[in-house]
Amino acid sequence: MPSENISVLLDEKRVFKPSKEFVDQTNVKQWMDEHKIKTIDDLYKKAENWEWFWGEAAKELLEFYTPYKKVVEWNAPWVKWFVGAKYNIVHDAVDKHAKSWRKNKVAIIFEGEPGDVRKLTYNDLYIEVNKLANALKKLGVNKGDRVGIYLPMIPELPIAMLACAKIGAIHSVVFSGFSAVAFRDRMLDCEAKAVITCDSFWRRGKKVPLKTQTDEAIKDAPSVKNVIVYKRTNDPVNWTNNRDFWWHEITKDMSKECPTEQLDANDPLYFLYTSGTTGKPKGIIHAHAGYAVGTALTLKWVFDMKDEDIYWCAADVGWVTGHSYIVYAPLILGATSIIYEGAPDWPQQDRWWDIIERYGATILYTSPTSVRLFMRFGEDWPKKHDLSSLRLLGSVGEPINPEAWMWYYRNIGHEKCPIMDTWWQTETGHFVISPLPITPLKPGSATKALPGMSAEVYNEEGKAVQNAGGNLVLTHPWPGMLRGIYKNPDRYEQTYWSRFKNVYLAGDVTRKDDDGYFWIQGRADDVLKISGHRIGNSEVESALVSHPMVAESAVIGKPHELKGESITAYVVLKKGIQPSEDLRKTLTDHVSKELGKIAKPDEIWFVSDVPKTRSGKIMRRVIRAKAMGQDVGDTSTLANPEAVDEIGKAV
Ligand code: WTA
Repeated sequence: MPSENISVLLDEKRVFKPSKEFVDQTNVKQWMDEHKIKTIDDLYKKAENWEWFWGEAAKELLEFYTPYKKVVEWNAPWVKWFVGAKYNIVHDAVDKHAKSWRKNKVAIIFEGEPGDVRKLTYNDLYIEVNKLANALKKLGVNKGDRVGIYLPMIPELPIAMLACAKIGAIHSVVFSGFSAVAFRDRMLDCEAKAVITCDSFWRRGKKVPLKTQTDEAIKDAPSVKNVIVYKRTNDPVNWTNNRDFWWHEITKDMSKECPTEQLDANDPLYFLYTSGTTGKPKGIIHAHAGYAVGTALTLKWVFDMKDEDIYWCAADVGWVTGHSYIVYAPLILGATSIIYEGAPDWPQQDRWWDIIERYGATILYTSPTSVRLFMRFGEDWPKKHDLSSLRLLGSVGEPINPEAWMWYYRNIGHEKCPIMDTWWQTETGHFVISPLPITPLKPGSATKALPGMSAEVYNEEGKAVQNAGGNLVLTHPWPGMLRGIYKNPDRYEQTYWSRFKNVYLAGDVTRKDDDGYFWIQGRADDVLKISGHRIGNSEVESALVSHPMVAESAVIGKPHELKGESITAYVVLKKGIQPSEDLRKTLTDHVSKELGKIAKPDEIWFVSDVPKTRSGKIMRRVIRAKAMGQDVGDTSTLANPEAVDEIGKAV
């Protein structure tokens, strides 16, 4: 039993029911009426025929070049959706809107941190995507080639992704907050042929030199032949002739038309690296058509997306939330979205509320960490602004504690906006467990698996259990399901499908209450969630060990009021090296350089040994219990039980 995380069993009794007027106007209610479905229970029942359900959804939301022969083909653990169809997600996300009444509808409202604003219509997007796609072709990027994207939150990030997808190339976006080393490792793994980046970007009034980091990364990534550089800040940059091209120069004379590659519906769309339990991040593969329908339907239903909405998903496109719910799903639905470049407290702590007021945002989707940050800033900041345009709120990335839920509900939603607590993962591609806007809500629970999907809680024997902690599993495939781990099919089978036969293991601990609502408690495996971002314990350990003075390290997560979890590292120094405050700082900076600031340890402790099993596996569970002052349990399998005592006395 992965019991270590079940320390807090949330048990909120409050239930918030949406009003009838609200329910009657929702997309999901309209769909129910069209399908003569009377109650929410009947909706779930009907969607148990998931093959039928997703076929219906595709009919409504996607346009295929040639029709599919079969909705789904499931050879566990490998799945294909819309088998036999020709498709490209860019047709649904851009082309079809640019040829429709939405041509001059604003797709993206962009606000830079210094306050610069750009609005791009669907037609603008179409032209920009085509020009960049033609430029990529000119550089020799072809269908199936990988392109690394290392860009901040500017419209060129979605444009770059769409340009790749348009020609059938596979994009691999790396979060702009990741370090050069982290970027290099991902480019090496996916063997990127080209990279798209910018000179630098704004963060809290300072410029982050992305081109410099790119240069550093790709000097050791020989597959990268070309770099396209967007000029964001006009900062001087180093230049390698014949390798580097300015975005504005290379696209200048390109045609505004570029045919969209008619792909197999199951061709890969992107790889996105995410942390697992080893030191090496895994390249999660997503494919075109299934992902398109899964993301689009969940956004349309859960956030009730309508043409009039001004939608703001305040995540970063560098993570899956941004891929699915800033780029692909909103564009497929022809929505208007806000993209904001900078920090939430810049220049003041009401920057977000100011943005919502100025653009009349109707939907806000963010993380519990951000909500807790705003709680800390205080309710006077949102009070200064008219937030009455908001009608729906969302949360993602980590469990939302009922206190933060209530604060968000009262101070941002003014008790009229339901909060959609969406549980999902890089691997799932889209929401899996989430309320619909017609669902009665309990603060802290992501409620149930959405129609067309199915979740259960399994005990160690693989039996479904109620009212007890257990493993969260998904019992049949869903359209946005990952298609594998790049270059590593064994790791795919092993990580997700080996524990319980033909059932997907999510890696989270959860409990289902009497109403069938899920209460997600956190990761069951050695993956940390820092401000909702996923970092593997062993990734931080590898980064520490890569320092010449470090012999060994063990990393654990501790509960943190703001970030959800914080990083504590126990470090064994090499022989003859003395612990010091300076060294502590050096090591903290070293991790930041290796992985990025988000992975910086909050605490580093020096010890002479870390508890291990006889086979040499670091016992993080024991270390964590000791560090938290809890019962360490059975230590008889340890090779060095005396190391446990040292944890408590570490310097
Ligand atoms: C956690 C983020 C509780 C969970 C989209 C999952 C959540 C991991 C929620 C995936 C939620 C995400 N409530 N926990 N609403 N949403 N998680 O891949 O532990 O960055 O396994 O995807 O985040 O993180 P990832």
